[in-house]
Amino acid sequence: MLDFDDTTENANKATPGGVTGLEELKIGSGRVQVDDKRIINCQADVNQLVPFKYQWAWQKYLDACANHWMPQEINMSRDIATWKDPTGLTDDERTIIKRNLGFFVTADSLVANNLVLAIYRHITNPECRQYLLRQAFEEALHTHAYQHIVESLGLDQGEIFNMYREVSCIADKDVFELQFTRELMNANFSTGTEENDRRFLRNLIGYYVIMEGIFFYVGFVQMLSFGRRNKMMGASEQFQYILRDESMHLNFGIDLINQIKIENPTLWSEGFQQEIIDLIKEAVALEYRYAVDTMPRGVLGLNAAMFDDYLKFIANRRCQQIGLTIQYPGATNPFPWMSEVLDLKKEKNFFETRVTEYQTGGALSWD
Ligand SMILES: [Fe+2]
Ligand SMILES: [Fe+2]
Repeated sequence: MLDFDDTTENANKATPGGVTGLEELKIGSGRVQVDDKRIINCQADVNQLVPFKYQWAWQKYLDACANHWMPQEINMSRDIATWKDPTGLTDDERTIIKRNLGFFVTADSLVANNLVLAIYRHITNPECRQYLLRQAFEEALHTHAYQHIVESLGLDQGEIFNMYREVSCIADKDVFELQFTRELMNANFSTGTEENDRRFLRNLIGYYVIMEGIFFYVGFVQMLSFGRRNKMMGASEQFQYILRDESMHLNFGIDLINQIKIENPTLWSEGFQQEIIDLIKEAVALEYRYAVDTMPRGVLGLNAAMFDDYLKFIANRRCQQIGLTIQYPGATNPFPWMSEVLDLKKEKNFFETRVTEYQTGGALSWD
């Protein structure tokens, strides 16, 4: 039975850190006004999607739904033949594929856990929560896609799924990320103080800007390079779909972070900016080591020096996107084709490669 509490005392009581959506229903209290909405520490009912305040969040939810795909839609048969052919790939190429699957096959679980267990509770805005729910499903799809590649190629599942605790260049990135999730998992944690709001913002930057915006990019370049050379086209295409989703997650995260900064300007102090810059630099070093470890020798037209340049280039871009000074002046992009893959204007062409027609609920046959 629902327990309604409409006493004025309780109806007016502010919830520390903002509402969760689980509060007792306040019968007859005022309707949600758009100006009451805030990303964190909001007191307005979080269960009512409208009126919209953050159109960008709703639009990204719609765009994400319009880009829906499933891993089984991509034909893996040529990849299977190439993998089984002893001359199909070099040992170095096989190492790159296995190491990247080893990182990604658990990385998206870490992102999903952070979304569901750490972030969602503290985002006090329904249109942003709507996007988070879609993103959480996409992270599940990505884990599914990586599992689908592992299964298709007949790889040793134990070896691949345990790499995040057996291969140090992978483990170090995950340990770096887990600190941000763990910070918010303390039962007593709630936003609403400057220290905790900064901790929350640090988590968002740790995942959206660093995990999805830096730690994924060596792997994306390496896996997409196979496709550019007509090798492992199925796996490469899976990664291409995932890259497009991830770049949308990154863009949502950047909007989210910048909106929190606008609404809470005192959080973005000089000291805090330096703390974030230090984290980004540490991440660039970790990701460079991952590049060297996955690819000890030049292969597929790639080499370690190019990744050094590329990581500095994208780190500069990430700094700019959240309003920090660039840290690596003069860094250039050795992979301009990566931005072509991401160019949304090419969306239509990209989706022409789909191999399976969609069956929507209405088209299913039940006999
Ligand atoms: Fe993902
Ligand atoms: Fe993601």
